[in-house]
Amino acid sequence: MKYLRCSAADCRNSLDLHDRALECPRCGNLLEVFIEGDLPEPANLKKLWRERRMSNDARDVSGVWRFRELLPDYPAETIVTLSEGNVPLVRARRAADWAGVRNLWFKHLGWNPTGSFKDLGMTAGMTEARFMGAKTVGCASTGNTAASLAAYAARAGVTARVYLPSGQASANKLAQALDFGAEVVQIEGSFDDALNVLLRAADPELYFLNSINPFRIEGQKTAIFELLEQFEWHVPDYLFVPGGNLGNSSAFGKALRELKQHGFIDRVPRIIIVQAEGANPLARLWRSKGASLQPLAHPDTAATAIRIGNPRSWKKALQAVEATGGRVLDVTDEELGEAKSVIGHDGIGCEPASATTLAGVRKLVAGGEIERDAVIAAVLTGHALKDTEYIIKSHTKRIDTAEPSMATLC
Ligand code: F0G
Repeated sequence: MKYLRCSAADCRNSLDLHDRALECPRCGNLLEVFIEGDLPEPANLKKLWRERRMSNDARDVSGVWRFRELLPDYPAETIVTLSEGNVPLVRARRAADWAGVRNLWFKHLGWNPTGSFKDLGMTAGMTEARFMGAKTVGCASTGNTAASLAAYAARAGVTARVYLPSGQASANKLAQALDFGAEVVQIEGSFDDALNVLLRAADPELYFLNSINPFRIEGQKTAIFELLEQFEWHVPDYLFVPGGNLGNSSAFGKALRELKQHGFIDRVPRIIIVQAEGANPLARLWRSKGASLQPLAHPDTAATAIRIGNPRSWKKALQAVEATGGRVLDVTDEELGEAKSVIGHDGIGCEPASATTLAGVRKLVAGGEIERDAVIAAVLTGHALKDTEYIIKSHTKRIDTAEPSMATLC
């Protein structure tokens, strides 16, 4: 049986799976999908999930829905998919040397249909929205959620409305949202302000698709199923993930909890969340060992995707870190910028926010917290082409201009 329940361990209030509440009506904490009862044998499911990669059924072609035994159930024709997932695990060489480790692997979720990990959550969230009969869907976004929501809404045939912090989302992401036909609302202020505007509007006609929507989390957790499958179910020692609104790290924690609970793995990697120094409320909380997160009123980092001061899923994310023996840290814009450039020079590329992971690996290795031989998976969340302005600004000195006569000679 699958139903919604409160994510707070001391509440666990349960609701119908398709209840539209985003918070527990009893205590106000976020909700999550809970799977009760036994699953088929892990060995059989591992085999089935792999065999589905040979099938042309739309649900099997999706790297999210091929894991459907661990997802909410829908009739096949309801599923809104762009064949997301099934992205490679890439061995990093140059980046590993730079960070001082031997076994570094990038799970590149930027190689999804709209260029970010958001597609994994959006196929699930949009499927639920369509199942519930939504006509308009919406989100606040630093850019990637907007691009993904716009694409999946177009596929589902529903109206998309995205709220962006004015002038702060990269032009590439804004262009995607426009290209996919979304209505774009620019909000003066930060992502947090945009989210507040949307939540306060409480438009009953609008189906809300930020990552506090538990169905988004369901899709995003499959990245970990796929990652472990690619590691032949050998569990890495560390899992690095960038932290913004903290939905993704929450999803990864949930994935690991479920895999362990159902006997797919017998240990879990340590989840290491890396934030940008200028937008680091969870890292501050971690350092202070405090009890509750103090939002930052003016988050600031060149990694615009994670310029977030009041992450909504912080409790779930902290729970994921604690349950896996992990930690939270932050890196400066200089450190993440250097890491981004190294990932580019490894022939892989990513957007600035994703490079926090490599910068974080280097920092913990330098501090003696991670051994050189540890097996490390770092999640790259967005494609290099997500923020071309950032790249060009960082490299202008390397662009040569030749005289026209010289150019003809070349
Ligand atoms: N990396 C990228 C490329 C992102 O776009 C985001 C979040 C994150 C990391 C952080 O993930 O929020 O789950 O902790 N982007 C959101 C957006 C906020 O609107 O596109 P998180």
